[in-house]
Amino acid sequence: MTATGTGGEAAGGRVADPPGGPNGSAPRQVDPAEHAFAGELAFLAVLDDGPRPPGWRLTPRAVVTFVAGSDGRELELPKAARRDGLPARLAIGAKFVGERALVERCVVTLAGERGLLLVGEPGTAKSMLSELLSAAVCGTSELVVQGTAGTTEDQLRYGWNYALLLAHGPSREALVPSPILTAMRSGVVARVEEITRCLPEVQDALVSILSDRRIAVPELAGTPDAAVHAAPGFTLVATANLRDRGVSEMSAALKRRFNFEVVGPIPDLAAETALVRRQAKATLERVATPFAVDDAVLEALVTAFRDLRSGRSVEGWDVERPSTVMSTAEAVAVATSLGLAAAYFPGDRDVLSLLPSHLLGVVRKDDPADGAKLVGYWDGAVRRRAEDGARLWRRLWELRDALPD
Ligand SMILES: Nc1ncnc2c1ncn2[C@@H]1O[C@H](COP(=O)(O)OP(=O)(O)OP(=O)(O)O)[C@@H](O)[C@H]1O
Ligand SMILES: [Mg+2]
Repeated sequence: MTATGTGGEAAGGRVADPPGGPNGSAPRQVDPAEHAFAGELAFLAVLDDGPRPPGWRLTPRAVVTFVAGSDGRELELPKAARRDGLPARLAIGAKFVGERALVERCVVTLAGERGLLLVGEPGTAKSMLSELLSAAVCGTSELVVQGTAGTTEDQLRYGWNYALLLAHGPSREALVPSPILTAMRSGVVARVEEITRCLPEVQDALVSILSDRRIAVPELAGTPDAAVHAAPGFTLVATANLRDRGVSEMSAALKRRFNFEVVGPIPDLAAETALVRRQAKATLERVATPFAVDDAVLEALVTAFRDLRSGRSVEGWDVERPSTVMSTAEAVAVATSLGLAAAYFPGDRDVLSLLPSHLLGVVRKDDPADGAKLVGYWDGAVRRRAEDGARLWRRLWELRDALPD
């Protein structure tokens, strides 16, 4: 069956393939950054033709613009550089919301072919930033190893196709490269997600990769393939969680081979609310559903997240922090659920009335007893705002019954 099936149940009970994408490819739930933003990347490559580090598709400045946006300004191609398929002017949207200086430091690290480690709390867009950086630098973000307690050295170095190995012995053809080895051969960026979830001895396979910039293949000793040398442009972007169960320490040797950048929560309420709206709206648009949640509801949602995350309300009142991380990523998920509820169950209830139970779901993720902290927040900050006369908070206070006593 082709990717352009008719949908529905096919003969024999097999579910038909979904309808094809715009250029005949199967539709995807999530497009890698280099595809999703192919137009912007092509535009920036032509706009800024300055010197680039070896193997880079864009100049370091253009990479920063791609990730952090053009501040609402329309960038204009010089007349001589205009060509078919590219707009003459384009405003580049901010994808990562945060300090531009942090993005610049990340780009400088990569330009020096040093390893970059993005550390921070869960849900602060570390993975997103690593994907955007690799897409912009070398045109692919897909060479990824996901670190887990079960990750083996083979997954960082290479493995074997055992059928070929048994039939013909070790050879270049029988070698199965890891994403890192592939990146070394082609001089591009490889990503290691959640590096600290790998056992320390497995992590340490990266020490020699980052210092010698080659992987020895002893099985192929005496042949030209006995070592794979990294081509210029190769480097690693890794991510690690500061707060998670089951993480291993990194050795000092490995730490020394990475530049660390700490990615923190979004400092500004308005910026975080705008981001939550944009991301939730984009998710709903992917399923062809309009996003109809009021800005005031979103602002209340993000305010509650920020108060509970920081342990202090906007007004300076103390708030008891739940042990779960009230991340922006979770706020986006709640906003998306509210949007879907509004779209699929219109008129049943107002969206605001769903907020307490969604917040409760998030707050209880780490420790079910933390539900009491949300109740405390309601009886404290929410009530005081209601008493101060804010209409939306009055309504939220009336919804106190949706929470357990
Ligand atoms: N500063 C930010 N800029 C843009 N998006 C953000 C930001 N912070 C959080 N997000 C949102 O969070 C989502 C999840 O981010 P991502 O998965 O990259 O986080 P993470 O830090 O890798 O989390 P984890 O530690 O759980 O792996 C993003 O897709 C985006 O919707
Ligand atoms: Mg991540």
